[in-house]
Amino acid sequence: MVRTTSFFVCQSCGAQTKKFFGRCSSCGDWNSLIEQSAQSIDGRLRRNSVDFDQEPRSIKSMPMASLKENPLLRLGSGYQEFDRVLGSGLVPGSLVLLGGDPGIGKSTLLLQSATAMAISRSVLYVSAEESAQQVKLRWNRLKGAETNLHLLAETDLENVLKELESLRPEVAIVDSIQALHDAELSSAPGSVAQVRECAAALQRLAKKLSIAMILVGHVTKEGLLAGPKVLEHLVDAVLTFEGDRFASHRLLRAVKNRFGATNELGVFEMQGRGLSEVINPSKLFLSGTSAAGIATIVACEGTRALLVDVQALVSSTSYPSPRRTATGVGTNRLHQILAVLEKHMGFPLSRYDCYLAVAGGLEVEEPASDLGIAAAIVSSFKDVSLPKGTVLIGELGLGGQLRPVGQISQRLQEAERLGFNRAVVPRGSGLESIGFLKSIELIQVVNINEAIIMSLEVDK
Ligand code: TYD
Ligand code: MG
Repeated sequence: MVRTTSFFVCQSCGAQTKKFFGRCSSCGDWNSLIEQSAQSIDGRLRRNSVDFDQEPRSIKSMPMASLKENPLLRLGSGYQEFDRVLGSGLVPGSLVLLGGDPGIGKSTLLLQSATAMAISRSVLYVSAEESAQQVKLRWNRLKGAETNLHLLAETDLENVLKELESLRPEVAIVDSIQALHDAELSSAPGSVAQVRECAAALQRLAKKLSIAMILVGHVTKEGLLAGPKVLEHLVDAVLTFEGDRFASHRLLRAVKNRFGATNELGVFEMQGRGLSEVINPSKLFLSGTSAAGIATIVACEGTRALLVDVQALVSSTSYPSPRRTATGVGTNRLHQILAVLEKHMGFPLSRYDCYLAVAGGLEVEEPASDLGIAAAIVSSFKDVSLPKGTVLIGELGLGGQLRPVGQISQRLQEAERLGFNRAVVPRGSGLESIGFLKSIELIQVVNINEAIIMSLEVDK
């Protein structure tokens, strides 16, 4: 029997009704009524299991300087790449939301990590989407070590909360928040009201019992996290797991992280027996060949520099307006670079189609890759390959000038480590102080003209 302990609350004016209406009778807004449980409306805490007000607190502000800091305790996830994105591990009492396309490997990643963590601590894996048998099959496939991992296949929020409270694990994983269901609400699982109530109840318990919790979240067709935006505000970190379904590598990123940097990147590879870490990802994004139209750039993802090949194909067009397609780089950037090349180097690129692709399906958003993209285009246009072992770093201005970019020493170090011996960089990158580069010849240039001549060794 469904208990009617819920209300519908207008998100615009706050009016409450017992029944659902398409339009708020108070302010007249359409589709603004969202279901909420009665307790969460009166501000009282629902479920006697969660009670913050056990001991009276004295409410007083205090000088910032007198506040004692507690060092953040971190629980390692068992995977170096996962820890890097989390900011060196999970924080007890925090909530992490992991989103990603269906089938990308969220459950696999978390089951592997849970198994690894369960060697030294108690871990509960709540599977709301798959049955215990299904999880066990996957676990066998992953050849999980015999550890103290607990599994609960349950979709009812109340039961999940009870189990969490009796087991009191250090780490809990909920796969997925959209499949959990609070019987006090009449809305369907996965609806805004359900997702919000379930996540809030889990968060209260996580805080109270100091459980590090990871929630799996679905993404919508547009690639956004499904459910209310409130969910993203509620959790401490939002991670996304992405990758090409047709390629085997997967990228883990932090979109929001209260306990670490947000631009860190973790790289995994999906194999027959689960995900394995890719400690040296530059190898994944380098083709290792040198041909016309290929240039190597150094992209920075957080504290990590990655060497990546970009490929361009320029061919005369048979269309009234030429085709421009870019994968891994924004089309606007491609248009801009083509326009600069046409204007400042005189190449008649408006009569040519141009296709651009970043190897390995990586998205390169940094302006530091401009020079490499420009060089790949010119190399394909001229049908001359760039000399082997050359990296190109630099942001291209509209006037054809090259601007220095950040983290240059880190980029050059990575290039040197991978055996590259020539780097074309903007003049004024502050390289005078870098004394450690032994095997890289630095070519400092001021504009695109000079850069192309120096790197291609052709005259236009
Ligand atoms: P899964 O973790 O179920 O994805 P999600 O939870 O994000 O929906 O991943 C499923 C995919 O991963 C599936 O297409 C099969 C593949 N896979 C492997 O290639 N190797 C493996 O060892 C496992 C467990 C899955
Ligand atoms: Mg799954």
